[in-house]
Amino acid sequence: MSATRIATFDDWVDLFRVWRNDIGVNYSEIDSYHFEAKFGPTRSNEIEFGAFKGRPKWQKVLDIPDQRIRDGLMNLIIYQGDTEFASVEQQRRLFEHSPSEHDRKSLCRVVTEEMRHGWQMCHLLINHFGYGGKVEAQKMLERRAFESKRLLGAFNQEVANWLDFFTYTDFVDRDGKFQLTMLSYSGFEPLAQSMNPMLREESFHLGTGHDGLKRIVKAEVVPLNIVQKYVNKWIPVSYDLFGVDQSSSAHWFYVWGLKGRYDEAQTQQEVDLGHMNEHNRHLYFLECEKLIEQINKHVPAGAVPLYVPHMKFNRHIGEFADQSYSVTGELLSPEKYAEHLKETLPQPEDIKLVGEIQDTEPKWVSPKGSMDLS
Ligand SMILES: [Fe+2]
Ligand SMILES: [Fe+2]
Repeated sequence: MSATRIATFDDWVDLFRVWRNDIGVNYSEIDSYHFEAKFGPTRSNEIEFGAFKGRPKWQKVLDIPDQRIRDGLMNLIIYQGDTEFASVEQQRRLFEHSPSEHDRKSLCRVVTEEMRHGWQMCHLLINHFGYGGKVEAQKMLERRAFESKRLLGAFNQEVANWLDFFTYTDFVDRDGKFQLTMLSYSGFEPLAQSMNPMLREESFHLGTGHDGLKRIVKAEVVPLNIVQKYVNKWIPVSYDLFGVDQSSSAHWFYVWGLKGRYDEAQTQQEVDLGHMNEHNRHLYFLECEKLIEQINKHVPAGAVPLYVPHMKFNRHIGEFADQSYSVTGELLSPEKYAEHLKETLPQPEDIKLVGEIQDTEPKWVSPKGSMDLS
């Protein structure tokens, strides 16, 4: 892309159009969508926790009393925005393989809203963070998921088929819901106000994924052990998205009032600053357990039900990173672990099979509306 730097938000919008063409998602519904920044209500006008608790939320970056806090805030926005555009890049090739017109429309809505989320983060960067913010908003459209240039591991993985898509939207977008909720308590008012509209949109993505997985299980065309392999692919990368254990940045984000705990609004528990990421990751794990339980209601009697992979399995961030733990959390020898990975993660032949099913089996995903409400 151009070596010149953008000066205004309109300049960025021009780049955003170029990016959309470049990615190949300029379908008519997307092209005619009215992209805009949306701001909604927040729980409080005062900073809710940390060293500045009780003070009015910051309206402008210059209201923030310390450069380290301003830098930390800008980083949170960059990372969030990067995931939004990355997910569109990951999903860009699914349109031609939609199980139904209903699903094609859902996909269209999901990618459009992810673009709007990226737009929202760039809007904040450009309008509040001066020259540095403009540079970052531009870089956001220059990295590519399919060149492994996105900032977080999950967002450089391949989404090759609709089983990937549904598992991704159920579990990776769910990490998104956790991150947005934590940012909804932010002491920086424009960021906190951005979260309510994003969370509303996000809930559609989660529902699409969760419903889609149930429909695949119900259709009984894709073998269940392959569905499990996709669950094993996407849940551990989502564990990683919560960050390192005993994170000092998560500690400071809380002390500075920039990012709360996922259950900040409900919990009476004293904050444990040394284990912020572990706390949120654990809540995520519990939510995954409930989701898998719901999907299992559609598993035929006598079949092996789906499970949530252990928190130690296939991790690349944190204290269990790059160790040989099994899906049930046992430490295996390197040889056994190599075998185990083949049995538990999608292999080239599994990906090929799902691709073939997707293109030749019209009923491989149960029709929408054939589900009970569980
Ligand atoms: Fe999003
Ligand atoms: Fe999403």
